[in-house]
Amino acid sequence: MSPVIPRVPAGECHVWIADAVRVPSPALLELLDARERARHDTLVRAQDRALYLTAHALLRQVAAAQLGGGPREVRFTHVCRHCERTEPHGKPGLEGSSLEISLSHSGGRVAVALSPAGPVGVDIEQVARDMRDLTEVVLAPEEREELERLAEAGRPGAFTRYWARKEAVLKATGDGLVVSPALLTVSPPWAPAALLAWRERAEPHRPVRLHDVDAGDGYRAAVAVLGAPCRVVRHEVGYDGDGTLVRPRRG
Ligand SMILES: CC(C)(COP(=O)(O)OP(=O)(O)OC[C@H]1O[C@@H](n2cnc3c(N)ncnc32)[C@H](O)[C@@H]1OP(=O)(O)O)[C@@H](O)C(=O)NCCC(=O)NCCS
Repeated sequence: MSPVIPRVPAGECHVWIADAVRVPSPALLELLDARERARHDTLVRAQDRALYLTAHALLRQVAAAQLGGGPREVRFTHVCRHCERTEPHGKPGLEGSSLEISLSHSGGRVAVALSPAGPVGVDIEQVARDMRDLTEVVLAPEEREELERLAEAGRPGAFTRYWARKEAVLKATGDGLVVSPALLTVSPPWAPAALLAWRERAEPHRPVRLHDVDAGDGYRAAVAVLGAPCRVVRHEVGYDGDGTLVRPRRG
């Protein structure tokens, strides 16, 4: 097992946060399977390729450390709740394992979550520079009022906090953004993360455990786990130039 990827015990959800690699090392590219490699190669911007590579290589390494094989041996499932399209898409899972996984990438950072506790959704978002067009789409009316009461300088960070919390919930359930985030109400950014309401949601459903995750300056992240309460453990990791996973030194 890698020293930077511990085994995740029952009742815990671990989240790994990493900067996208600066230089895509061949060692990391080799971890991807043919489908991931093809998707990687379709991305036009080098920054997007680096982000995709980092997220999928890290997910494979995190999963392999739990399952006991090599990262290239990990097999994924994909479940879409909304359509019958046959090509793999929708919420990712691990073939032959009840461990739950999620990944997210934004700007120059990625987040990978894994838990034995229940379905998990992680979301990382770079703080929105211009959020004006998005507030109606993402926020419930009471959240828009809360946002408008804040000083202007605090609004982008607060908006992004709402957004990450909501998307984490929608990724845990597997709905994704097919369900409007404005139907969900979450706690205000200055309060502990919680899902307060979900209009038009079919009952019954499992309890949603929502947690903020420190994603560093300029980013907001959250993780949601469905089921019993669970402890969230965060790991900051990074890659050396040769593709070795390390704990980065800060400062
Ligand atoms: C999935 C979705 C929530 C991702 O949001 P995002 O902010 O763009 O991207 P993130 O980086 O946070 O997450 C991306 C990852 O979420 C995962 N994902 C995809 N669909 C998912 C779902 N339904 N539930 C949970 N996770 C999902 C994948 O691992 C994906 O990684 P990849 O694109 O590198 O393979 C969003 O793109 C979405 O819901 N799209 C809707 C797609 C759609 O309309 N489908 C129609 C029905 S078929």
